[in-house]
Amino acid sequence: MTRFTRLFSFFRFQLFQLIGLARFPGLATLSLFVTLAPFQAAAQNMVIKGATILDVTNGDMLKNHVVIVKDGRIDAVSPARSADIPKGIEVIDLQGHTLLPGLIDMHVHLTFGGGYHGYERLKLTDERRAILGVVHAKQTLMAGFTTVRNVGAGSFGDVALRDAINDGDIPGPRMLVSGPPIGITGGHCSDNNLLPPEYGISGEGVADGPWAARTAVRRNIKYGADLIKTCSTGGVLSKGTKVGAPQYTVEELTALIDEAHSRGLKVASHAHGAEGIINALIAGADTIEHASFIDDEGIRLAIENNAALSMDIYVTEYILGEGASAGILEESLEKERMTGATQRSNFRKAVEAGATIVYGTDAGVYPHGQNAKQLSRMTRFGMTPLQALQSATTVAAEVMGLGYEVGKIEAGYAADFVTVEGNPIEQIELLEAPSAVIKGGVRYR
Ligand code: ARG
Repeated sequence: MTRFTRLFSFFRFQLFQLIGLARFPGLATLSLFVTLAPFQAAAQNMVIKGATILDVTNGDMLKNHVVIVKDGRIDAVSPARSADIPKGIEVIDLQGHTLLPGLIDMHVHLTFGGGYHGYERLKLTDERRAILGVVHAKQTLMAGFTTVRNVGAGSFGDVALRDAINDGDIPGPRMLVSGPPIGITGGHCSDNNLLPPEYGISGEGVADGPWAARTAVRRNIKYGADLIKTCSTGGVLSKGTKVGAPQYTVEELTALIDEAHSRGLKVASHAHGAEGIINALIAGADTIEHASFIDDEGIRLAIENNAALSMDIYVTEYILGEGASAGILEESLEKERMTGATQRSNFRKAVEAGATIVYGTDAGVYPHGQNAKQLSRMTRFGMTPLQALQSATTVAAEVMGLGYEVGKIEAGYAADFVTVEGNPIEQIELLEAPSAVIKGGVRYR
């Protein structure tokens, strides 16, 4: 989490405490204690020795070095022989393991999942989703993903989850969250097309027209969003939408993205079809999610605009393999049959063209905690193992605006690590079963 966000939620918490204090002055001492405790718990010191450190910026394997962690941050990476190791500090010996920066997934839905698809999803209340979010946050962290971008959640359940993790109440990754995705009536984002009109259901992020789109952005910011998620085409899993067809006009997208950017937030646009991808890029989107049918013009524009592609090329295997039994509608399975293979060949094209590609999986559609499965698919469809790892560390951190905070093992960075037994460059699948996970200097696995 950025220092800014942490500070912000700290102040919000303080405000909350103040209000409570005014009403119950007798609770002042307890109140102060509650305010400070989570931040003290987050400050951890340790020295990690024995591991081979993989420098993801260049692929170098650093042996005989130690990593010293102070207050949850990397204090130094030094040769073991000359290291100045503080007395009494916790020593973690990871002989035979490779140490990497904690991984980043740019496209998850922690409050979705648990196998609820299609009409099954209607069974879930907001409260049930929030509890699922707690379970999924832990699964994600245990899988070595110490930072995620949550791109779409109802009722600001993602904001609550992020804040609970930051306050030290529950284990979970650092989260940047979008709140409800913003989209057109009947579109892929936010709207729920499962029920007939007499139910009068419209999603909370539905906004038609430039000014309504701006208002929706303002509302999401008001309630705690770190970024904005929108949709500029239909989707696979939404009933009655076409993956190839644009959603929103360029005018609407331009207003939405301008509003977000002027408030300092980035915009992730869900887009499968070539035209909707181009519309989002013209309007200034920062990341294109899925990008399945991206054409040469889309790839060129993405590179020119410095926009990144987040292509979820594993999830097709789950949808076509287990989707039917998880409740995915037949019409969605049919859409996936026309999408997955093309997305994979376009992934290869985009890699060869030199587009910026970040690691985004859509975990939540498939089980959380299996986020690393996509790494091997990325190497199968054109990336080197190092490129795949960079997409989930340095490149993702940069695109998220956290390039100074996470994604590298260097002094000053957050002490977020994942380790595997063996060499992940030779065997990328090792990351599917990490041997240790550390976030903010706290060992969770
Ligand atoms: N959430 C996405 C959608 O419904 C999932 C797309 C999955 N398919 C794929 N080939 N990436 O559109």
